[in-house]
Amino acid sequence: MALERREFLTRAGALAAVGALGAFDCGRAYADISASQPAAADTLPDWEAVRAQFRLSPDRIHMSTMLLSSHPKAVREAIETHRDGLDANPVEYLEQNNSRLIRDARDAAGRYLGISGSNIALTDSTTMGVGLVYNGLRLNPDHEILTTEQDYYVTHEALRQASRRTGATVKKIQLYEEIGNVTEDELVQRVAEAISPSTRVLAVTWVHSSTGLKLPIRLIAEALEEVNRDRDEASRVLFCVDGVHAFGCEDVGFDDLGCDFLMAGCHKWLFGPRGTGMIAGTLRGWASVTPSIPSFIDGGSWDAWMYGKDLESPTTADRMTPGGFKAFEHQWALPEAFGFHEHIGRPAVAERTRELAGMLKEGLAEISRVVLRTPRSGSLSAGIVSFDIDGLEAPAVVRMLRDRGIVASVAPYLTAHVRLTPSIRNTSEEIDVALREIRGIVS
Ligand SMILES: Cc1ncc(COP(=O)(O)O)c(C=O)c1O
Repeated sequence: MALERREFLTRAGALAAVGALGAFDCGRAYADISASQPAAADTLPDWEAVRAQFRLSPDRIHMSTMLLSSHPKAVREAIETHRDGLDANPVEYLEQNNSRLIRDARDAAGRYLGISGSNIALTDSTTMGVGLVYNGLRLNPDHEILTTEQDYYVTHEALRQASRRTGATVKKIQLYEEIGNVTEDELVQRVAEAISPSTRVLAVTWVHSSTGLKLPIRLIAEALEEVNRDRDEASRVLFCVDGVHAFGCEDVGFDDLGCDFLMAGCHKWLFGPRGTGMIAGTLRGWASVTPSIPSFIDGGSWDAWMYGKDLESPTTADRMTPGGFKAFEHQWALPEAFGFHEHIGRPAVAERTRELAGMLKEGLAEISRVVLRTPRSGSLSAGIVSFDIDGLEAPAVVRMLRDRGIVASVAPYLTAHVRLTPSIRNTSEEIDVALREIRGIVS
């Protein structure tokens, strides 16, 4: 049952939050956050102004960024503009705008990750990107794909399908015994030790959606580089990462990661249009996969079809971008989402997310009966905060929190935890309210 705004605030004893929640006034001027003007590096972002870009209902505390984005004003307006254009004249608006806007979207994603837009494929979601990459890999029954028991359904299921199709074996390893005392070194060592002569693919998730554990992707890439140094091109291990819960809240570029593929939805931490995602890849990565869905933006594929040519050139990100007509107004609004982050600054977004998640973890760690699942260290965690309450099932805790106006979620894993995911849309007052409500549940 949703609480009335007044009742919610009174019950939560959150007088301090009144001012912050008032910032949901959607009439607030947007002029100060524009895609074209990055914030000065030495000024702190105005988090109230950032928060005011969203039309989230003020009677809830929304800590569910990891599931589905609410569109900030610039994204909403871009979608509306394109929707109006398509509704008025679908064919000519499409013909006049599609090539440019798709290129802009890829360039914006590339700029955000520090690579060329030509190495970005656009997808509808993380799931689509993961499926396309793993099922596009050229594997055979002599090959092994290495992944972890801690990975998500999307990775496991895509790998199961790839294995059925190609005959390659999927090997799953335990990344740790006890998350409470896991270290970066242990994580890297476990992965490195599991690589065998037949391993061709390493498939992991950057930030786990069950526990919030963040893997040291760069360190794993370095360990892999050691292995690959002694291998010929055909035997190299490709490094593929589901990065959705870091993309939009960690201050890391694609080259800093050192992986071959990064797949992520743009409709979670990035606050991009719902139904959008991307794959960033290296030239080596693209050359290692075969597309499953015909591309509409790859000239070579069209020519091959029209003139009966062979497609001998290596696969590219253009060719890996699935074609078909889409909710174009959403894909075309991607530059505004990246612009929103660029304006605030990738480092500031990451720092703010870490700050709020840190406050939440500190507070949770002090509540009796609460068992924090996410590591406290910033090097092993990002914005997801997972926990359990002794004696209560995770879904029951989520229901209690929702009854108290706090939108938490349950991780859809066999072992379920409660998740709260503070982001740049939240305030420290909201963290206090969430903690107070959790104390109320355990008392
Ligand atoms: C680790 C991970 N990968 C992929 C997904 C699915 O993302 P998408 O909705 O973009 O397909 C989720 C869902 O939240 C997730 O937790």
